[in-house]
Amino acid sequence: MSENKFKRYTVTTALPYANGPVHIGHLAGVYVPADIYVRYLRSQGRDVIFIGGSDEHGVPITIKARKEGVTPQDVVDKYHKIIKESFEEFGISFDIYSRTSNKIHHETASEFFLKLYHDGKFIEQTSQQFFDSQENMFLADRYITGTCPHCKYEKAYGDQCEQCGTSLNATELINPKSAVSGNIPILKETKHWFLPLENYESWIKEWIIDGHKNNWRPNVYGQVKSWIDSGLQARAVTRDLSWGVKVPLENAEGKVLYVWFDAPIGYISATKELTPNWEKYWKSNDTKLVHFIGKDNIVFHCIIFPAMLKAEGSYILPENVPANEFLNLEGDKISTSRNWAVWLHEYLIDFPNKQDVLRYVLTANAPETKDNDFTWKDFQQRNNSELVAILGNFVNRTLVLTDKYFDNVVPQRNSLSDFDKEVLESINNFPEKIANQIENYHFREALKEFMNLARLGNKYLADTEPWKVIKTDEKRVQTIMNISLQIVGNLTVLGDCFLPFTMQKLREMIGLEQLSWKNGGSVDLLKSGHKINPSSLLFEQIDDEEIGKQVQRLLDTKKINEMENHKAAPEKESISYEEFAKMDIRTGTILEAEKVAKTTKLLRLKIDTGIDQRTVVSGIAEYFSPEEIIGKQVSILVNLAPRKLRGIESQGMILMAQDADGKLVFVSPQINTSNGSEIK
Ligand code: MF3
Ligand code: ZN
Repeated sequence: MSENKFKRYTVTTALPYANGPVHIGHLAGVYVPADIYVRYLRSQGRDVIFIGGSDEHGVPITIKARKEGVTPQDVVDKYHKIIKESFEEFGISFDIYSRTSNKIHHETASEFFLKLYHDGKFIEQTSQQFFDSQENMFLADRYITGTCPHCKYEKAYGDQCEQCGTSLNATELINPKSAVSGNIPILKETKHWFLPLENYESWIKEWIIDGHKNNWRPNVYGQVKSWIDSGLQARAVTRDLSWGVKVPLENAEGKVLYVWFDAPIGYISATKELTPNWEKYWKSNDTKLVHFIGKDNIVFHCIIFPAMLKAEGSYILPENVPANEFLNLEGDKISTSRNWAVWLHEYLIDFPNKQDVLRYVLTANAPETKDNDFTWKDFQQRNNSELVAILGNFVNRTLVLTDKYFDNVVPQRNSLSDFDKEVLESINNFPEKIANQIENYHFREALKEFMNLARLGNKYLADTEPWKVIKTDEKRVQTIMNISLQIVGNLTVLGDCFLPFTMQKLREMIGLEQLSWKNGGSVDLLKSGHKINPSSLLFEQIDDEEIGKQVQRLLDTKKINEMENHKAAPEKESISYEEFAKMDIRTGTILEAEKVAKTTKLLRLKIDTGIDQRTVVSGIAEYFSPEEIIGKQVSILVNLAPRKLRGIESQGMILMAQDADGKLVFVSPQINTSNGSEIK
């Protein structure tokens, strides 16, 4: 196996922007699979470093800071802390979680830039860029708004129109405006450094197409291939901004490294911060470099960063980039600005100590080959019918029976049936099956195999029925429980990378230390005579009420978003007071209400208007049941000319407001008023 080629592993995870907390999409796409991989490698005794950190530069961070009236450093300090804590809480076992505003990172990124600069790897180009004369600054594309030339949306950004989705150049916008000052920006000349990717085209082709066509995921390879096929161009590696790594040259004031130039170098800076021996993790051909990322980062990690590393000359290149597709939430794209997400720090408030449940669900449903959907129903289902009913159930039955029959002492194995031998044999096969899947970045399959071991345990108990046999043959039950306990022991070894919290708890229960992967498959993990501790349940049922609460929260979010996006209808033509005064609006009380037969929308109401009791037919049956509105005080236009609806004469109209989502609500007096009071 080509594995032998590698003596050590450098595993990196995309550095999340420190401008918001992290959600389940981050976890599913990048951090959980990377953590499984790393825990597995460590358990194999391999030399591995696991690198993470916050990406603290970039325009969105400065925009957020301006909006909130704080400094960019304040923004990143706040979110770096929140993000770091979330990862810790979910057991993402980084060797270092660093940040790109660190001094060591600024130094490393500057040196990297200078090396390329002095080696003549850049080209310098002067171009016209928008400039805000009032603020005395060049404007990043994101800082310019204007009318989209395609759909005429008036609030398009200089890099993209969020209405029609087209990506734009700021100079294409109609009526461009500075988002900083609101002024009309001018075009001004500015000089930047570019990495001419076209010079690396044939090398990249050879490296990727010849070298990685078969070991990179098809979605990753496909994206890269189509980028290469469309032709590589020079990319600017600097920007006119004040927040970022300063361009380390004279006459470069007000210029910083482009965030996508400095951020991946952050992997290297973090390694330097971690260990003085950092070079062997980055400059040794027997080191396997693996980048875990989401699909929106593919081009940067498969083309641009490798070209930078190649240009620098002393670094190794990624061996694999197992990028995931996206995770959606209840059918909609996860979105920070629309608050359409399950935030990690909030999840733990509602589901304390259930980190592994989320890790499990996100792995079982990982978007490895296509976008997937997270739903709370699926979360509940997988918890109840997989974690509880398969894994938890097997472990619990085994431990309860061992307690009951043998006082928590591991019994010995006596003579073996053919079935016993078969089971022992297949236990032995699990480590390799799971390992193969993990080494090939198939984490869902790996998890499935792991669960098959618990399934095997359940089947073994169901088929051997120790609870019946105990009445006649205790020796036989000793064997059965011994074998079941070996399966439990194996679960702790092979499941630790997926469910670290649960497996630690289980190890404590059975009094087993953390063993390495090579112990997996052994059927002597728990020696006879070994005393195990009293057990408790590994997983709990999650009921409909808990799930309903989460679903309701999302429905509320949807509602808030709809209301925020709701555009009020334009004002109608003005009328005179006399015209208004012609309308006779009164308060009245609904005395009776019933559905109008054969209609879905109409209710026939009897109203006390203070003047009289009259019939009104109202189109509100979809929103209100007759019972719930009887006795309600409403506003009624009493002098509307009567008209017949479904053969019933309606003598007036109830006033209603229509909500953003179409729902109707009564326009009623806030406190009860005498019926017949005039509304004016
Ligand atoms: N901050 C980027 C994002 O969230 C990822 C940066 S990955 C790195 O999309 F390699 F540049 F660090
Ligand atoms: Zn548009």
